[in-house]
Amino acid sequence: MSHAVKEYFNQMAANWDDLATPETVSRLRELIRELSIAPGSRVLDVGTGTGILLPFLLEAVGPQGRVVALDIAEEMLIRARAKYGHAVEYIVGDITCAPLLDTDFDEVICNSCFPHLADKPRAAQEMARLLKPGGRVVICHTMNREAVNSLHASLGGVVRDHLLPDDEDMLRIFTSAGFVKVGITNAPDRYLLTAWKPPV
Ligand SMILES: C[S@@+](CC[C@H](N)C(=O)[O-])C[C@H]1O[C@@H](n2cnc3c(N)ncnc32)[C@H](O)[C@@H]1O
Repeated sequence: MSHAVKEYFNQMAANWDDLATPETVSRLRELIRELSIAPGSRVLDVGTGTGILLPFLLEAVGPQGRVVALDIAEEMLIRARAKYGHAVEYIVGDITCAPLLDTDFDEVICNSCFPHLADKPRAAQEMARLLKPGGRVVICHTMNREAVNSLHASLGGVVRDHLLPDDEDMLRIFTSAGFVKVGITNAPDRYLLTAWKPPV
């Protein structure tokens, strides 16, 4: 994890919520609904930011479930906590060396964060470590890969070369980390990768 990336997102935190349009929020609500997360699931939200996914994840897992928010930028999590309080567990940490127990999650979800991870193979390995056998990883964006990559290039600065790899590379990263049934959708208004840790 680069200190510059952490500082970049800490500085973005105060205005982060203003960047999400109602359409983005609505697409994310639909995306989480389509995942059919089982009530009672334990879900890790990687790169939570100010918590755009949290209300949808809380609704999906219900009162018996558990939602953990992980982010390197503490300023982001302060804002998420202000909104969702004790309903969620907040952890300042890096997904490439997450301070979390093995096999503790049914679902690992990473929205608009994967391009920012410097060591993507390592992050995928950590996601596999954190999932129970049979658990699912989800990498998603509310725009396609080309739009994600041009957005970061146009923003410049520390995120200018934070790219979402092409299908071949993503397949290699996730299969090398031990995932199976890797599926990738790169549609005009959505990027979605799902993959499963094999059941024992
Ligand atoms: C583009 S923001 C997306 C935030 C949120 N998921 C959303 O959709 O609004 C990316 C987030 O990932 C976090 N992040 C970047 N690198 C990370 C890492 N190595 N481990 C955990 N979080 C990270 C950033 O601090 C930032 O909050």
